[in-house]
Amino acid sequence: MINNITEIINKKANKKELTDQEIDFFVNNLHKNIKKYQVSAMLMAIKINGLNDRELITYHNAILNSGKILDLDENRFDKHSTGGLGDKVSIILAPILEAMGIKFWKLSGRGLGFTGGTIDKLESIKKFNTDYSLKAILKKDNANHNLIIGQSKNLIPADKYTYSIRDTSGSVDSTELIAASVMSKKIAMGAKNILIDLKVGSGAFFKTLNQAEKLGKKLRLIGEKSNRNIYIIYTNMNEPLGKSIGNSIEVKEAISFLKNEYKDEKLEKIISKIAIEFYIKKNNVSLKEAQEKYDHILKKHKGYDAFLNILQNQKVKIKDFNEDKIFLPKHSYRIIANKSGYFKFKNLEDLGYFLIEIKAGRKNDHDSIYSHAGVDFFVKNGDFINKGDLLAKIYSKERLTEEQIRRFENTYFLTDKKVEIEEIILKEEKW
Ligand code: URA
Repeated sequence: MINNITEIINKKANKKELTDQEIDFFVNNLHKNIKKYQVSAMLMAIKINGLNDRELITYHNAILNSGKILDLDENRFDKHSTGGLGDKVSIILAPILEAMGIKFWKLSGRGLGFTGGTIDKLESIKKFNTDYSLKAILKKDNANHNLIIGQSKNLIPADKYTYSIRDTSGSVDSTELIAASVMSKKIAMGAKNILIDLKVGSGAFFKTLNQAEKLGKKLRLIGEKSNRNIYIIYTNMNEPLGKSIGNSIEVKEAISFLKNEYKDEKLEKIISKIAIEFYIKKNNVSLKEAQEKYDHILKKHKGYDAFLNILQNQKVKIKDFNEDKIFLPKHSYRIIANKSGYFKFKNLEDLGYFLIEIKAGRKNDHDSIYSHAGVDFFVKNGDFINKGDLLAKIYSKERLTEEQIRRFENTYFLTDKKVEIEEIILKEEKW
């Protein structure tokens, strides 16, 4: 009989293959008699020694079956990013897709490791609800609005639990743990067509395209075993996406995008790519037709109207919703260039940890975040900057120390040499 978790941890720590029963025992008892420190040891052993394909499928199925799986119609689309800095794509995409007539029900996560999470961002909108009972979720199917919710006791509770433990115990960047976590969210939510935005670079869990492709293979393996259509885009995370990083500050940027008041070329490329590919897949139309539809939606602010519908559908009273009150940081700091030169981010992971330091993310799983903490960048990789130009603004709850400001300034540099401008979409693997 399998009932000794220490034996299973030791087996994986010693690079041995686990049986299906051992993996099921671990996942099925997460909340029961296995202690948190044992869960974190097991996840670390998996991160270090990996899972083979059979172990991965068993682990994924166990996570998925820890809750209910929605069985919805064929035409359901979903996308998932593997995590980065400034990634507000889902907040912009969900309403744009609603306006384009594409059903997009999304199960998202909170911040993970040094990256931000859609649920934390959306919860910076007062009263926005991301936690629904299964019955309430199914009722929403009649409302015809796109939906973004978090893991719960109904839907992949095992991902919710392991996700927060991984976040604060150093086992996020594991190919197999990410693959199972991402795909269980998509499949639990009933999506038949799934696009993965696989981030590559210093602000992603995978630093090179080669490493990211290994994850891509595992995501596709799980997707195909579950009869899902999979599209993967590999996108560049050597600089933040858009201009803002944080929680409420990203919601504010998303609103400006939806109102067509502001454009960031790279952010727009990802959003239009996903919206257009989904529209073509659903309606079997030409690229030109899909592009025209997307342009029309954006120009007429129809995505913004749909955003308000989504808020209302998720418990926000529109009469009480005041955009100007979303982002109200206590302190702000202007960061000025101390010399001239071409701007370049160094290591985005350090920038991510700086954001955690100012409480835009968590160090421990029970930490609360300060939703107004964040950064605005007014420059991009490759821009030529003059001494005295405004580079960025930092927003925080508490006063920042000199040391914290130095730490921030150490996340980029200015150089005399021209900086290469990198492509945003590095590679795609179609349906
Ligand atoms: N996104 C997820 O949902 N899970 C991970 O493990 C990483 C990114």
